[in-house]
Amino acid sequence: MQAVSNVPSQATDWIEIGKLEEIPRLGARVVQTPEGDIAVFRNAEDEVFALRDKCPHKGGPLSQGIVHGRKVTCPLHNWNIEMDCGKAVAPDEGCAATFPVRLEDGVVYLSLTPGNGCSQQENA
Ligand code: FES
Repeated sequence: MQAVSNVPSQATDWIEIGKLEEIPRLGARVVQTPEGDIAVFRNAEDEVFALRDKCPHKGGPLSQGIVHGRKVTCPLHNWNIEMDCGKAVAPDEGCAATFPVRLEDGVVYLSLTPGNGCSQQENA
């Protein structure tokens, strides 16, 4: 099983959010945090990714989008967002904040420290 994605080394504030199998494959689970909702996605290869649950276009709920490969399609206007860096796929422009996630013995951990990705340019 492939385990880890977008994990910067500085993350230390890991919180356990449940088992991998509790996240629907090709779907997501929403984790409510003081920073806002974070969508934790699982793709067909059992890789996990976490993005702010807010599309960089008009704030659509990415957690309700369709996962394909390492991308998710927003349910509102079909923008494709790269889950490993949060960037909208060209010609669209924008970025959703990413968060580090890791998988250990089938348990998913999330850090609330935004990942490197393009979160610095996130559209509010
Ligand atoms: S809000 Fe996501 S594509 Fe428009």
